[in-house]
Amino acid sequence: MPLVTTDNMLKKAQEGHWAVGAFNAENMEMVQAIIEAAETLKAPVMIQTTPGTLKYGSLALYYANVAAIARGVKTEVAIHLDHGDTFDLASRALHEGYTSIMIDGSALPLAENIALTASVVKFCKPNSIPVEGELGKVGGKEDDTKSSLSGYTDPAEAEEFVARTNVSSLAVGVGTAHGVYAVTPVLNVDLISTLRGIIQVPLVLHGASGLEDDVVRECIKRGIAKVNFATELRIAYTRAVQAYLEGNPKTIDPKKYGAPARDAVRNLVMERMKVCLCDGKAV
Ligand code: 13P
Ligand code: ZN
Repeated sequence: MPLVTTDNMLKKAQEGHWAVGAFNAENMEMVQAIIEAAETLKAPVMIQTTPGTLKYGSLALYYANVAAIARGVKTEVAIHLDHGDTFDLASRALHEGYTSIMIDGSALPLAENIALTASVVKFCKPNSIPVEGELGKVGGKEDDTKSSLSGYTDPAEAEEFVARTNVSSLAVGVGTAHGVYAVTPVLNVDLISTLRGIIQVPLVLHGASGLEDDVVRECIKRGIAKVNFATELRIAYTRAVQAYLEGNPKTIDPKKYGAPARDAVRNLVMERMKVCLCDGKAV
């Protein structure tokens, strides 16, 4: 079916105490894998691309891929700009047809983050495209594999941020980081409960690759309504390609190693969807 926006699925997740799985895709095979997993499990899904991914392929290319594959399935599929870093990129994503936009001003001082985020929300409003903002810092770098220290979201600032920007959802810093964890992260799950108590819009957890299933479940129980996975998919894809080529070093056809890589990503996404409790939740 046609791509959908994310207001409805996130609202339902928030009310139903489950979370929408949001998965980063780098190429066509990963888009196929994520949508196949969603269709098999009847799960609503968000497919996301970062600015780094959009340097590898264009907004038009990823949009066309996701829209074409989604057209052949019944489940709800949204395409989301992940960690949009400028007003310009956010506005181009909107014009391209992206059905959900993140503007990440979390590295800016609060007033500048509010101003940037509010401007994107205002721009997206006439098209009813939801905007995710970020306050507090998810450590690491979303296009890297290394993790670094995180910053925690201040509840009073979060309340002010949501009121002044009118964001549709809020990514929060609770101790997670992007990339591969060098040490087991210590999450402040009480902070999620506190934020849930004062923030009306759905809360988003970034940096979920490498978290234990129980930790992800606890975050959802405390009020997270969207969980982002990127690094784990890249690892699954690449390891499957490596394994295939080690066993078949003479292979020259990308389809030969693309197929097992796609299967590996699909299986991983299905596991993560079950942890998010989003299976069976498509309308
Ligand atoms: P990971 O690096 O933990 O997969 O983070 C995913 C993410 O937050 C994408 O925005
Ligand atoms: Zn992220």
